[in-house]
Amino acid sequence: MLASGSGTNLQALIDAADIRPNIGLVVSDMPGAGALGRAEAAGIPTAVVRFGDHPDRAAFSVALADAVDASGAKGVVLAGFMRILAPVFVSRFRDRIINIHPSLLPAFPGSNAVQEALDHGVKVTGVTVHFVDEEVDHGPIIAQIAVAVEPGDDASTLHRRIQSVEHSLYPRVITDFLIGRIYVADGMVVWE
Ligand code: GRF
Repeated sequence: MLASGSGTNLQALIDAADIRPNIGLVVSDMPGAGALGRAEAAGIPTAVVRFGDHPDRAAFSVALADAVDASGAKGVVLAGFMRILAPVFVSRFRDRIINIHPSLLPAFPGSNAVQEALDHGVKVTGVTVHFVDEEVDHGPIIAQIAVAVEPGDDASTLHRRIQSVEHSLYPRVITDFLIGRIYVADGMVVWE
């Protein structure tokens, strides 16, 4: 698992009995991330790989990939990881990296998706879970759930409703990925 923030999605995965034993390592680029505390509380090994300790994004991504490999992980789950992964990382875990994003991609990629949806005046936004390729918030889509924008929503109320959808969707996806029911074939996702 890679996480930068408070780690509520990580917590939802830790709380899933079928997933928890499969989480071998939580890596963060942020030494004080809440996600690290959640992992430690669950007895899961943690590591910190700081962006600033490396000369460029490629070197940072290699250090991350080495940490993941050393844990023996077969796949990589991004749970609020806020750094862009260089192509060298993607190629080492091709079709085995999964991300969750708070919009209906391809609308509103990037780190400000909830506010941008509000600013655009969309009436429906949502959650996307997808395999990660070399582009930002891009790759074969596994699942999407729509969330209505309500009158009076601000970024915080809307993100709260989006996150409650994330916390039920992500464990469902990761459970089925772990047992081989979700994979990429010819660039498209199969969910058996
Ligand atoms: C989530 O909304 C996720 O969609 C986005 O980052 C946020 C992470 O939240 N990629 P948390 O750290 O899991 O609470």
